[in-house]
Formats: sequence, C-alpha cells, structure tokens
Amino acid sequence: MGSELSARGKALIESSPMPDYLHAHFDRLEDHYDAEANPNGYIGLCIAENKLVWDLLQPRLVAPRPTLSHQAICYDEMIGSFRFREQLSEFMGRTFLGREFDPTQIAVLAGTGSVLEILFHNIADPGDAVLVPTPSYAGFWADLETRDELHIVPVHTRSADGFTLTEGLLDQAFESSERPVKALLYTNPDNPTGAIASSDQVEMVIKWAERRGIHLVLDEVYALSVHGDTRFVSGASLRPTLGDHIHLLWAFSKDFGSSGLRCGVLITENEDLMRSVDRLAYWSVVSGDTQHVLGEMISDRNWVNQYIGAMQTRLGDSYRAVTTALEEEGIPYFAAEGGFFLLCDFREYMTDQTWEAEDALWHRILDEANVNLTPGSACRNEEPGFFRVCFATEPPDTAVAAVQRVGKVLG
Ligand SMILES: Cc1ncc(COP(=O)(O)O)c(C=O)c1O
Repeated sequence: MGSELSARGKALIESSPMPDYLHAHFDRLEDHYDAEANPNGYIGLCIAENKLVWDLLQPRLVAPRPTLSHQAICYDEMIGSFRFREQLSEFMGRTFLGREFDPTQIAVLAGTGSVLEILFHNIADPGDAVLVPTPSYAGFWADLETRDELHIVPVHTRSADGFTLTEGLLDQAFESSERPVKALLYTNPDNPTGAIASSDQVEMVIKWAERRGIHLVLDEVYALSVHGDTRFVSGASLRPTLGDHIHLLWAFSKDFGSSGLRCGVLITENEDLMRSVDRLAYWSVVSGDTQHVLGEMISDRNWVNQYIGAMQTRLGDSYRAVTTALEEEGIPYFAAEGGFFLLCDFREYMTDQTWEAEDALWHRILDEANVNLTPGSACRNEEPGFFRVCFATEPPDTAVAAVQRVGKVLG
C-alpha cells in the first residue's frame, strides 16, 4: 500500500510527458563523442541549447559575488525581486522589446516551462483549447496538457509553403475546434524552423487574435539568437500597449545559453493575470542567488553588447559550417536565420511517407550513426520526414562530424 501512487502519479509513470528522443539523449550522455578519446561516441543534435558561449559566460557566472546582499538568500517576492525586474526592464527594453515595461508588469519563474504552465493555468480552464502553429517546439504539449489539462489544437503549416502561417490556416483551426479556443501561442524566432517573422507577419497574428477576442502569447525566447539578415521585431514594439490579452515570454535559457539556471520571464500588462501568477509563483521561484548573478550580468551594458555580438557571430559560423556539410552530403534543408536549429527534409530517404517510416529512420540514424536528431513527429509536423538539426549543442567540428555520419547512413 505504501508505494501505491495516485491515479495521476501512475499516469505519469505510464506515459512520460517527455518525448522519446529526449529519453534516448539522456540515456547516451555517458558515451559522449570525443574526437580523440571516443571518436565513435554519441552526438546529440536534438536539443535546443547554445553551448558555444560558455567561455564568454564563465567569468560572469563563476566570479565571486562581492555585492550579494543578505536579502538575496532570504524570501523575497515570489515573482522575482523588484531590483531584478528593474534590471530586466532596462535590459529587455534596450536590446529587443523597443521600450521598457514597468517592473510590476514583469515576473520571473523557474524557466519558460514554468512561465507557460502558470500563465496558461490562469488564462484557460481544463478542457479549453490553445492554438499552436506547427511544426512547433515539442515541449508545449507537456507544458500545457500535463497539469493544466488544456488541449492543443495544432495549426499545421506546410513545407510546400515554407511553413508559412496564414490567417486562413488560423481561421480554419479556430473554426474546426470542438473546444472553446482561449489563446494562440506563437513563437518568433520560430522553433524548429529557425524562421524570423516579418513585422507584417507579427502584425497579422496580433490582429487575428484581437479579431477573435482571445489571448495571444508571444514566445520570444530566441529574440537575440539571430544569425541571418532578417531583423527580429518583437510584438511589444508594434503596439504602444499590450493590453490585457497579449503576453510575452523570454528566458535566459537560450539567448544566454543558461537553460540549467531556470530563469524565464513573463511580461503582461494584465493586472489580474499578474496577481494570479503571483499566487502560484512560490512553487517555481528562481533562486535569489541566480537572480543576483543574472541581474548584475545584464546590467553591465558593455559586456552585454560584446556578448550579444560574439554570440550571434558564433551562431552564424556554426550554422554555415553545418549547412555546408549538409550540402556536401546532398541533404536538403530549409534555410534558417534564428535560433539554434534548422529543418532537414529526409523524405527522399524514406520508403513511404508515413510516421512509421520516419520513426524507423530516426532509429536507424541513432543506431548506425550514433547521432540523435529531433524527429518531426515530436514537433507535431503534419507531414512525416522533416528532422530538426540543432547546430549549437556541440562545437562546429563535432556538429559537422555528426552530419557526415548521418550522410553516410542516408547514402
Ligand atoms: C520556443 C520555446 N519555448 C520554451 C522553451 C522552454 O525553455 P526553458 O528551458 O526556459 O523552459 C523552449 C526550449 O527549447 C523553446 O524552444
């Protein structure tokens, strides 16, 4: 009896919210590739992380904290200390939002995953629907469906149209939903395509959500991780005020390569929403020490400017190294300008265009090349055969070696 779990505990054991490719990744970390010591070792290009910038971050993150206050190690506001939210307001306003928000309109929680879960808990009820354009970030399903008990309605975009989201596709998904649609969750720069939306595109999405009278959640976690010619335009810079229905997300996980520090940011002008988020924040607080270190880091303007420039250059270099390798292997891909990834088109390497064939190919690449790519099924693609390659989880040489191994398997 003692070890007996609740029904929901058992459900978690029976069906993990985490997709299979992540389990496969964590199971293989011991066998990690090393050009000298383990040349046939495992290479995971399946997780959206930027590991190209540790040398830049290390001096800021491991330095002693002479200015750490006593308050930083005590209880403070659960949505983040006021000082940290002031620092975020200045930093985010200056670097990509186009204007500063009042610190009372900013909350920090333990990663974007926590922000998503707590935000959606307060804007939709169990059983309600949320529209998510696909292909999408795989984790949205776990974030919204596991404990919030929401239902994601995918808005499928098509490869033939370059995965472009249109008003028609949004209307179709909205009108065909059997459940009340409470929100649209829109990611820009996009994961997994790495596309950066034009300001007209963001404007279309904002106007569409306004016309439908639903919440719009703008996930801008890759705002600074851009490496192409297209300029990123934040939804915040297109409106003098966000009003009660537009909410914006950002995090240190991506632009500052610090996914393990768990610090996500919510911006909302909706006072009731902020109050309700505050009431759940206790369970997802960002450590006071982490807030202190990150706050000091983003307040050092010179360092931040240099960091962003170097980080974007490294992303671009790695992207070019990997796309050159893909071209050499004859593997088709969709060009990307933001994030740490791009989508490859493996359809010609599949005997049939089915999810079974995609899964079989994913297993073959994992078994024979010892390389893990994100399968399109995890990104909820409508069409089988598109795999995400994350090019910043490993140094460029390693990522190129992985692409060559994949090329061999496909060849
Ligand atoms: C678009 C998007 N949103 C949210 C997340 C989750 O980020 P975090 O690690 O801050 O929870 C990710 C992670 O890959 C992402 O790609």
